[in-house]
Amino acid sequence: MTESSGRPMLTVDFTNFTHRALGLGRGLLEEDLEKMEKIAPRVSEAVLERRSRGDLAWLGLHEQDLSDILAFARSVRGRYDDVAVLGIGGSALGLIALHTALNHPFHNLLPPDSRGGAPRLFVFDNIDPFVLDAWLSGCDPARTLFFVISKSGTTAETMSQYLVVREMVERAGLNPAEHIVAITDPENGELRKIARRDGLTAFPIPPGVGGRFSVLTPVGLAPAAAVGMDVEGLLAGAGDYVKAVLEAPLADNPSLWLACSLFLLYLKGYRNHVMMPYSSRLRDAADWYRQLWAESLGKRLDRGGRVVEVGPTPIKALGVTDQHSQVQLYVEGPRDKAFVITGVKDHGRTVEIPAPPPDSPLAYLGGHTLNELMAAEMTGTIVALTDAGRPNCLVELEEVSPAAVAQLFMLWELAVAYMGELLDIDAYDQPGVEAGKRAAYALMGRPGFQAEAERIRKSRRGGGITVPRPLV
Ligand code: PA5
Repeated sequence: MTESSGRPMLTVDFTNFTHRALGLGRGLLEEDLEKMEKIAPRVSEAVLERRSRGDLAWLGLHEQDLSDILAFARSVRGRYDDVAVLGIGGSALGLIALHTALNHPFHNLLPPDSRGGAPRLFVFDNIDPFVLDAWLSGCDPARTLFFVISKSGTTAETMSQYLVVREMVERAGLNPAEHIVAITDPENGELRKIARRDGLTAFPIPPGVGGRFSVLTPVGLAPAAAVGMDVEGLLAGAGDYVKAVLEAPLADNPSLWLACSLFLLYLKGYRNHVMMPYSSRLRDAADWYRQLWAESLGKRLDRGGRVVEVGPTPIKALGVTDQHSQVQLYVEGPRDKAFVITGVKDHGRTVEIPAPPPDSPLAYLGGHTLNELMAAEMTGTIVALTDAGRPNCLVELEEVSPAAVAQLFMLWELAVAYMGELLDIDAYDQPGVEAGKRAAYALMGRPGFQAEAERIRKSRRGGGITVPRPLV
């Protein structure tokens, strides 16, 4: 069991979701707030009931035993310069979010001593041939540890990357067992078979934890520990959140508030949900949120099999950067977005703005800090959105620490569970991803998909516009 981090790391203020702040009958009205009081207990009960049946294993991840992961991380320290992760979707986005939030922003550029001897980290969550080849051409396989992460063990993208990497390792005369770690299902799938056959170190992804809920399993934790992140701190934060919130009523349950209010706003036409952190270190947490919200909630069928085609569209933005890109649309465009502004109280460093000459038009900035400017800009966006009657809430992290980031993950994961109940959909499957996968299998010649390949070939038309137009 991990120790509690000992202090609250996250607060959420929903005032600006309501008409009391927005005025003019905008946002959640009194009757919506009353409705919320009525539906919230049922929604919470449904999630607790599933949990008591043994579902939702991701809610118990803070209790996992980290000794294997920690021992492995210790055993690889100093042996590798680079850790390269092959994985996609839920098998990559959580780790990327952790790396951006918790490692030094220029981790890979630091000399090894300044990284505490930790290896550099590269995550390949795409199969762009230029990018992978460019990286592999410069990589020394003898000094690289590859993590292949796939719950199913069959994902074409990840397993193709694995085949490329494996050939490179073997061509270099190296033992794959010294350079490739598998993270996959404990029993099933091709990757598990390969790991058994070749004696690869393999960490299990606990059954019942789907890809997008797996950041706090070995999927995120094993590579995170290998590059020096505090994985015990992550579990401590997650545990604090789950213990404080899971059984709490609406008034003390930010995930339930978030879900109920975003659900009611969705019904009122706010169909796009923007997560906008005011911290570059949380930029990829917004990317992680985008997958969690989209893949869990975008569904054709409800749980009774009726066609509903529901799901809010998640949008990621970054403060302050997107104030100069998106905020014009957010403040004046269609009234179809609800905003979750995500702030940080303590950025961990302070940068003072030197005073320019007193007659400079920039003199007002002197004596302030970039921290104050960041906070002022965030408040500015909140004020602008609120004055324009755009529903927004504020999630504030005390700091960007392992405990706080884990609480941010749990805030959203639990909110997704509640949203699944509210929308009456299965938040844990992803049937819409299958059609594209089947087509790709067919086009790549996978046995059993010949008919599909034929159907695709017949349906594809030529044409298109070439620019510049070729001269005949
Ligand atoms: O959240 C999910 O379930 C998906 O995004 C998967 O993580 C993604 O498709 C990769 O699957 P796998 O881990 O089986 O390779």
